[in-house]
Amino acid sequence: MPAGKEWPQGDPSSFSCPEKAAVTALNLKLRVDFAAKALVGSAELTVERRQADATHVVLDTRDLDVSAVTDLDAGAPLEWSEGAVHAALGRPLTVQLPAGGGAARLAIQYSTRPACTALAWLEPAQTAGRRHPYVFSQCQAIHCRSMVPLQDTPAVKFPFTAEVTAPAGLTALMSGLREGQEAAGEATTFRFRQPVPVPAYLIALAVGELESRSLGPRSTVWSEPEVVDKAEYEFADTERMLQTAEAICGPYVWGMYDLLVLPPSFPFGGMENPCLTFVTPTLLAGDRSLADVVAHEITHSWTGNLVTNRNWEHFWLNEGFTTFVERKIQGRLFGEPARHMSAQGGWKSLKDTIRTRGAEDPLTCLVPRLEGIDPDDAFSTVPYEKGHTFLWYLEQLVGGRDEFEPFLKAYIAKFKYKTLDSEDFRSFLTEFFAEKAAAGVFAKVDWQAWFSTPGMPPHEPAFDTSMTDACSRLCRSWSAWAEGEPCPMTAADLDAMSSSQIIEFLAQLLEEQLLSVAKLQKMEELYGMNARRNAEIRFRWLRLCLAGRWREQVPAALEMVTSQGRMKFVRPLYRDLYAWEEVRDAAIDTYRRNKPFMMHVSAHAVAKDMKLTD
Ligand code: BES
Ligand code: ZN
Repeated sequence: MPAGKEWPQGDPSSFSCPEKAAVTALNLKLRVDFAAKALVGSAELTVERRQADATHVVLDTRDLDVSAVTDLDAGAPLEWSEGAVHAALGRPLTVQLPAGGGAARLAIQYSTRPACTALAWLEPAQTAGRRHPYVFSQCQAIHCRSMVPLQDTPAVKFPFTAEVTAPAGLTALMSGLREGQEAAGEATTFRFRQPVPVPAYLIALAVGELESRSLGPRSTVWSEPEVVDKAEYEFADTERMLQTAEAICGPYVWGMYDLLVLPPSFPFGGMENPCLTFVTPTLLAGDRSLADVVAHEITHSWTGNLVTNRNWEHFWLNEGFTTFVERKIQGRLFGEPARHMSAQGGWKSLKDTIRTRGAEDPLTCLVPRLEGIDPDDAFSTVPYEKGHTFLWYLEQLVGGRDEFEPFLKAYIAKFKYKTLDSEDFRSFLTEFFAEKAAAGVFAKVDWQAWFSTPGMPPHEPAFDTSMTDACSRLCRSWSAWAEGEPCPMTAADLDAMSSSQIIEFLAQLLEEQLLSVAKLQKMEELYGMNARRNAEIRFRWLRLCLAGRWREQVPAALEMVTSQGRMKFVRPLYRDLYAWEEVRDAAIDTYRRNKPFMMHVSAHAVAKDMKLTD
């Protein structure tokens, strides 16, 4: 049955009307003012009329102080006005276009405010070196508008250039190619160029005391000096991952692929800023076991950054595809069983999300409606894991990897430099597999259920469990053990397990049962869980301890939510602490004290989870 024909073409998360007039190029000139916590300067926009009679261009802004708009060609001021503030979307900035046809070039003078939701301004004390301030951005999904006045919709793509002036001694990086730098007195100006057209959400900036190490012919890792050697070790597989991704997706068009390890308050695991993936320092486990996040962000170089969701309702086209290809890279590099293990882990986290949100929640649809909804509030594992499951299902349906991978390449070739929605995907799929479609292969696909029905997907894949069997056995032994009896577990249980198997073992325990404090203490005694520094292991271990109500472990959980800001860890831990009445006040108090150091998105999400008004 045809699904989705009714999907709106516009972007419910943007004021812009690119069908009338669209931004086609950006030149940014910004000075970083740490004292004022502001970026100050101008955005020079090239705007093309899409309708001959267009008289204005509408841009998205939030918390910006705009002071002037000029016509760069005529050197004359242009009229502009700002609309009413919308809580989730910010406010529109409408600029008069110069008379006459052709492209217009406008310069908008502006500065950001300290409340800017895209930027995290860190005091020296919040950095590893404690010597210099630091600022970084996180624009996805709709925060770019608080940093640059632009058409902040993925439907509009444009190349950009930038000049960023920062205090001497600091380094500025952006999501583009580095074009050089000039020192002048107390400041240095860094130049960047992103020749590939990108949506606003892929504009990124970081300024701090940074050092670098080479990772390969097209990759450098950047971080504060204190962690750069760890980072060099952790991400040594980057070039191999890039080559594997190219074998699956086609040529890498972005030139460089660098990594930036951010300070601990970075709210995500990774962010696919073009030419410069941002990652959390919680990936620095010392054993390369968490580098799957890098495989994921590398994959976005095709699915997301080249082939882009038209609006955030079709976010699964970015994240579901990326998760699917990320796991193919894993399969190629570490074997099929490893790929199946992470797919199984993904299925489990999908179940967990749908249990928490409720199977009726419309936001658990693969293609949710976002009219009136802040995309930050809609964010969950659903687009990742339901999307992944859908592609896994379709791959099986058309006859497996040898049939489906040529489709993936053709899909990327067809939609590169463009945007698409779920209906475009469906029609290209059935067109590519026209013969199979004619033979009825897609007749049993319930498109409506996959795209627009909340809850778990209509089909559960069969996973190879060869890598998870050991985890399940150990999980069963722990639950079967009657505490009066001699303990059948030994300190050697985990010796033959990889970090990802230990993570899976803990995830199963978390899913299946509550462990008593006595069992948790035994586990600590045998396996030395508290001493483990791998963030994914520590996170699940502390959740188990909170579920089992082991009071002495509460300080460790509070430490984990304050020492790093990755939402994947912070939100569930705060939720668990909140759900335990005796420690609820401590959790709220910790949140209130730590909030000034959290990025806006994380603080907002945690406040919502703990039913606080701020
Ligand atoms: N693009 C996302 C991060 C994101 C999504 C930021 C939506 C803001 C809004 C990134 O590619 C991502 O998915 N990161 C994951 C890692 C991954 C391995 C699932 C993360 O941060 O955990
Ligand atoms: Zn992603």
